[in-house]
Amino acid sequence: MTLPHLGCTKADLDTPSLCVDLDALEFNIAAMSGACRERSIDWRPHSKCHKSPLLAQKLIASGAIGVTCAKLGEAEVMAKGGVTDTLIANLIVGPKKVARLVELRRIADPVVCVDHIDQATAFSKAMSDAGLSLRVIAEVDIGLARVGVAAGDAAVELARHVHELPGLTLAGIMGYEGHLLTLDDGEEKAIAIHAALKVLTDTAYQIRSAGLPCEIVSCGGTGSFKYTVQAPGITEMQAGGGMFMDAFYRYGCQISDWKYALTVLATIVSRPAPDRAIIDAGRKTMDGTSHKPLVFGRDDIRVESLSAEHGALKLDPSTQDLKIGDRLEIIPGYSDMTCVLHDNFLGFRGDKLEVIWPLEGRGRLQ
Ligand SMILES: Cc1ncc(COP(=O)(O)O)c(C=O)c1O
Repeated sequence: MTLPHLGCTKADLDTPSLCVDLDALEFNIAAMSGACRERSIDWRPHSKCHKSPLLAQKLIASGAIGVTCAKLGEAEVMAKGGVTDTLIANLIVGPKKVARLVELRRIADPVVCVDHIDQATAFSKAMSDAGLSLRVIAEVDIGLARVGVAAGDAAVELARHVHELPGLTLAGIMGYEGHLLTLDDGEEKAIAIHAALKVLTDTAYQIRSAGLPCEIVSCGGTGSFKYTVQAPGITEMQAGGGMFMDAFYRYGCQISDWKYALTVLATIVSRPAPDRAIIDAGRKTMDGTSHKPLVFGRDDIRVESLSAEHGALKLDPSTQDLKIGDRLEIIPGYSDMTCVLHDNFLGFRGDKLEVIWPLEGRGRLQ
């Protein structure tokens, strides 16, 4: 695919194309970064949604201390792009990955998670053999029931083991309140999130009371951001996807303060009925599972369904003059699952292409 040239307009693009409104993105970044700064919390935005070292550099220039990654491969891409302070918020298992982690440690200073002594023992042996030291945090289950050591005594015991192992530095703990993102916004959501995070901060207190270090207490998602950022005892915030916003964050998680920054530019390729139009963007171009995509700036057009390569739009009577060849911008259902389908972000300032960010970590699933 030939890349569009900088300075071109959206009319010059072929479709479908993944576009970023840089003004909206910068508004969202400033809001997230500013809220963390106000509460003296370090912002380490999750990069699983963009996987781009260039965008990560922009986040760091806007106040982030580094990025969170979902995969070892993503952290490798970040390190090669000069982003060395990464938290790999996932469990790294197996000799091949541990060997890669040693190589990553030679060029970067990642923080990695464990929820069992077996993961830590493998890291310890590999790091000591290489004469290196690795920052490790214990992942605690705060109700998500995904991974994580149990809070309280079991977490303290794991932290003690990590602290005693050569080649490892106990750096703290993390948890993820991902099971609470879509609760009805308001008091109920606030209480549930603060209760889950209290489990994490109480565990941090217990670890410190046992004479062990626990500098990092990390958690946070976009859907819980406004409550998590106010929780006492949290030191790091992982929320990242909010920089793009999407229909899921807006309506599933009820976030109304941030702007839609990510769209898919699509073309109407068929008009099979007066009230139906078909666009060239389906499930292989954008996510519609977490929430139906929205048509940017058009309440009179609804995305009705997505098949692999087609999107079906339902048109109000007032919109039925749309023609084959007309273009629309679509807000994805979930930005995270949309970005991984594309090679590049096309960053627009107004209608002018200002920057292209390749998704270099795309496909780095190992
Ligand atoms: C460990 C972890 N932290 C944070 C997040 C939140 O990410 P985001 O803010 O991009 O929604 C997720 C989302 O899946 C996650 O798995």
